[in-house]
Amino acid sequence: MKSFDAVVIGGGMITHDQLLPSLYQLRRLGRIGKIRVCARNPATLEKLAASEIIRAAFPEQTFEPTTEPSEHVLKSMPPRQLAVVAVPDPLHREVILASLEADLHVCAVKPLVMTVVDSAQIENEARRRSLFVGIDYHKRFDDRSLMARRAYREGKFGEFRLGHACLHEKWNYRHSNFQNWCTCEHSDAFCYIGCHYVDLVHFITGLEPVAVSVYGLRDRYPNGKEGFLWTDARVRWSNGACLNVQNSLGYPEEGPGSNMQGLTMWCSGEDGGAMIRHSDQYRGIEYSYLGGPYSEPSSDYFQYVPSQGVVGYGYRSIERIVDACRRVEEDSRALDELNREGMIATPANSRHNERVIEAARKSILDGGREVNL
Ligand SMILES: NC(=O)c1ccc[n+]([C@@H]2O[C@H](COP(=O)([O-])OP(=O)(O)OC[C@H]3O[C@@H](n4cnc5c(N)ncnc54)[C@H](O)[C@@H]3O)[C@@H](O)[C@H]2O)c1
Repeated sequence: MKSFDAVVIGGGMITHDQLLPSLYQLRRLGRIGKIRVCARNPATLEKLAASEIIRAAFPEQTFEPTTEPSEHVLKSMPPRQLAVVAVPDPLHREVILASLEADLHVCAVKPLVMTVVDSAQIENEARRRSLFVGIDYHKRFDDRSLMARRAYREGKFGEFRLGHACLHEKWNYRHSNFQNWCTCEHSDAFCYIGCHYVDLVHFITGLEPVAVSVYGLRDRYPNGKEGFLWTDARVRWSNGACLNVQNSLGYPEEGPGSNMQGLTMWCSGEDGGAMIRHSDQYRGIEYSYLGGPYSEPSSDYFQYVPSQGVVGYGYRSIERIVDACRRVEEDSRALDELNREGMIATPANSRHNERVIEAARKSILDGGREVNL
């Protein structure tokens, strides 16, 4: 089986929590070769290399750290390998395009980019070079999302009518590097994390969003910068349905999960109602450690387990994207198949996300006015 050398651009939280351990696991399986991680700050790379949880699970593995500018690092890769793009939201466009220019397949964290034009540019550039761009909307690979998609598409819920989703990150996110980039002019709580649930409603139902309004509250980070750290969004869909999405960097530190998240969808048939309800942080596990704290860990997103390394939909999403790159290397016609299958989000098959994000940015900066897509 072909293995890819990988370069990860960005060494922050998501690289630590999901991307690097997933790549290590894939290297164990022979699907990834060399791994380089590029960040601007040497301390970021030192911290990543020293991570105890990663070292304990993968004692035989290391990565090559580099603080060279990302364009140089990308250009120095052999062609048709893999770039994993994990920089802040507003930088995705330039790093993804530089990766494609260096002739590399791309695994990008969500949201792909902030505008429709940028997403189309990435799609065209990738197609011209027969390269794959996969977007890590990993909630798609949570089994419960796949079950809901199948049952919804079999007609078992009728028609989606009203829904509510939320994802509240812990308060301490305000103290992280987020305060340097997730500021009012660049992004907001909805675009950063609410986009997962907009994508999921499309993934389950196949409906298209038609209008968005996002009301955001400005709040100060510890460094004094201003962010929309509390957001309330309303997304209207092609069948008239309406989804409300609330997001924040405000979940209490004392809360038992690492965040609070979930999705409820109310649906109707000819003569009866139906419902899908997912609690996405409480997965039925309660731990009370000696001396505390009480905790409700998620067994499903990403976990280290003895003998297997890492498991969960966070890992599976990266595995599927690497697998898709291999399919495209073997036969470039796979690009069309992957777009059609719609399991992995690609620029061509998930434009709904950029349409919503572009409109959401306009809306939030305009006091929550509804913007048609
Ligand atoms: N659940 C999810 O899907 C999820 C969760 C967290 C983050 N993310 C996404 O991942 C991305 C990164 O988030 P994070 O939490 O890791 O942020 P972070 O702020 O912790 O890390 C960003 C990293 O990028 C580096 N960086 C910035 N510009 C760079 C450049 N030009 N070259 C090389 N490195 C550069 C920074 O130094 C930092 O190491 C964001 O787009 C975010 O939305 C997704």
